[in-house]
Amino acid sequence: PHRPLIDGFGRRISYLRISVTDRCDFRCVYCMAEDMTFLPKKEVLDFEEIEAIAGAFIARGTTRIRLTGGEPLVRRDIMRLVETLGQRLSNGLEELTLTTNGSQLAKHATGLAAAGVRRINVSLDTLDADRFTAITRRGRLADVLAGIEAAQAAGLAVKINMVAMRGVNDDEIEPMLHWAHGRGMGLTLIEGMPLGEVGIDRVDSYLPLRELHQNLSRRFTLTPTTKRTGGPARYVHVAETGGTLGFITPMSHNFCESCNRVRLTATGQLYLCLGQDDQVNLRDAWREGGPEGLDAALDHAMRIKPKGHDFVLDRTRPAPAVARHMSVTGG
Ligand code: GTP
Ligand code: 5AD
Ligand code: SF4
Repeated sequence: PHRPLIDGFGRRISYLRISVTDRCDFRCVYCMAEDMTFLPKKEVLDFEEIEAIAGAFIARGTTRIRLTGGEPLVRRDIMRLVETLGQRLSNGLEELTLTTNGSQLAKHATGLAAAGVRRINVSLDTLDADRFTAITRRGRLADVLAGIEAAQAAGLAVKINMVAMRGVNDDEIEPMLHWAHGRGMGLTLIEGMPLGEVGIDRVDSYLPLRELHQNLSRRFTLTPTTKRTGGPARYVHVAETGGTLGFITPMSHNFCESCNRVRLTATGQLYLCLGQDDQVNLRDAWREGGPEGLDAALDHAMRIKPKGHDFVLDRTRPAPAVARHMSVTGG
């Protein structure tokens, strides 16, 4: 019998995203600037602290945890954390997942599966090696493809996340669809969101997914499904490929009214909305107040969780909606 986490708008919070590091071995142009200042290492939570915070959430009805970054698999000894969180799967936690760029996946795939992870999301915006290096600035496509192969071989379900960008990869949507579905993977398309100063023009590269959906529905038979993963994507079934295609449309269709999640940063700040700055310091709450301190901080968090984001893309408002980069909260 727990006190569930319910915010001021009656939304039940059952999904915790944990950014284990804001660092990344890539510098994707829509996510990061070339030159990034990362959170000071000495302020990063250790695994015991992350586990304590995760435990407080699970005790209050959190059923899904997703590890994110930056790139989660670049954090040293990350598998230790995955294994301990995995042990919660038999009591309270229903799903432990990961969103990764795939660069280190080949060496961790079997470990993830052994720890109880069943499905992962891999970010992949292009299948062209040169273009891949241009978008990620320092990634190698072959590493990611090897990681995906290893993950599937280990029995993990893989979903591909593709940020759709006009003039960058909009000519690859169909090839990606055939590629992913042909290998038994789902594909989710994402609208770029204005977080932090980055390496592309967000207005020029913005591709409304409504438009893309319309184009695709001329070439494919798309049937809306009721499938929900607990994430923000809306899914269709594609008859021609037999696969599932998701759309994440924060810019053109806001899904905040059904929001069920909050985000913990690597230093212990709990951000209550991806598109707002409202936050609660759980690191201090834990260090100063232990389990009761954490519990009280979670109650406070529920009172201040904002109604939603108000992302806008507008030439006359050149500053990003949110100053921090996506890598601070892991999307
Ligand atoms: P599933 O559990 O597979 O549905 O995953 P997910 O979509 O929750 O997670 P993932 O890490 O794959 O995120 C995909 C994209 O959705 C990222 O670009 C996130 O930034 C974005 N996203 C996730 N949650 C939210 C949200 O609450 N608001 C907004 N605006 N975007 C979100
Ligand atoms: N807008 C939309 N998606 C983004 N991602 C990173 N930065 C942005 C952005 N500004 C995506 C990554 C990954 C997920 C966690 O977030 O590609 O799939
Ligand atoms: Fe790294 Fe993911 Fe951001 Fe790319 S999108 S720089 S892989 S955190």
